[in-house]
Amino acid sequence: MILFFFAYALFFRRSMNKRIFVLFLIFWRYMETSHRVVFEKPNLPELTLHHTVVDMHFHSRHSDGLNRVSSIVRRARKLGIGLAITDHNAIRGAVRLATYADILTIPGIELTSREGAHLLVYFYNIETLIQFYESDVRPFLGKNVMTSLSLDMHGLIRRARQYKSLILFPHPHCAIYTGICNPMIAKDAQERLLGMADGVEVINAGNMKKWNLQCAVLGFNLGKCMTGGSDGHNLFQMGKAVTYADCPPNRTDFLDSVKNGTNRVIGKEMAFLQKVTSNGFKIKSSIRNSPHVMGKNVRFSYSIIHSRSRKVRDMVQRKIFRHAGS
Ligand SMILES: [Fe+2]
Repeated sequence: MILFFFAYALFFRRSMNKRIFVLFLIFWRYMETSHRVVFEKPNLPELTLHHTVVDMHFHSRHSDGLNRVSSIVRRARKLGIGLAITDHNAIRGAVRLATYADILTIPGIELTSREGAHLLVYFYNIETLIQFYESDVRPFLGKNVMTSLSLDMHGLIRRARQYKSLILFPHPHCAIYTGICNPMIAKDAQERLLGMADGVEVINAGNMKKWNLQCAVLGFNLGKCMTGGSDGHNLFQMGKAVTYADCPPNRTDFLDSVKNGTNRVIGKEMAFLQKVTSNGFKIKSSIRNSPHVMGKNVRFSYSIIHSRSRKVRDMVQRKIFRHAGS
């Protein structure tokens, strides 16, 4: 193992590669000792035999996902897993999902704060999610579900905290401003907000490996709840990252396991081609429906990523201007 590390470090002399590898090495060690977080493709047929398995982060066509709830449920049944439909600032998908009694469903929502960072909130029953949505989300909606709410992150967490819920930051480290650990939010504010939440999503199958590793480091350092989900926007992505626990397959026991930290997380990032296809659809519909949100994303990306493809960047920017102007 050590020899392999040195061979790698010698071969890849660029410091960024080394840093990522060292992070990976630390986590390999964690995985061997705790198995709480495992970076590999979940073997769902095997896993579902002995555990309650849930994809905690999935999107339906009620926000920016591609599929109807009926197709999503068919796929979850086939995989033998439970599911949380966590649409952006919308609950119609989650409400429809809750009507299916033959699979484990977790009521949830992915909120966009005024700062642009996302927040996942899960509830023990669908009635509480509806009540939360009607009193604490709907009055603050923007012009569509993909737009930021007019509440800041502090206000959102404070409101969600009034209900029996589980509050987590999805993809806290990621390439755009939707993760809480982004440079547009001051470090002390990040720490305060992380302290207010129940935990973080440590594997998001739509995220990049280097960001997921940082999310996992954060999860272990916080010592709070850790979850995983595909963040899938189409059926093929479901189950690429999951949260599982040794508990009876019902909401209360499952969410309690997550709360108590007795759950585990396993997942692997989507293949590059899958990401390109999925993001292609997402970007196309985002440009059409929410050019201002896309514009913000592109501007943010300029500041943290040195885009190597000016051609693609300029093409996206042109389309955004065209739709924003129409
Ligand atoms: Fe998401």
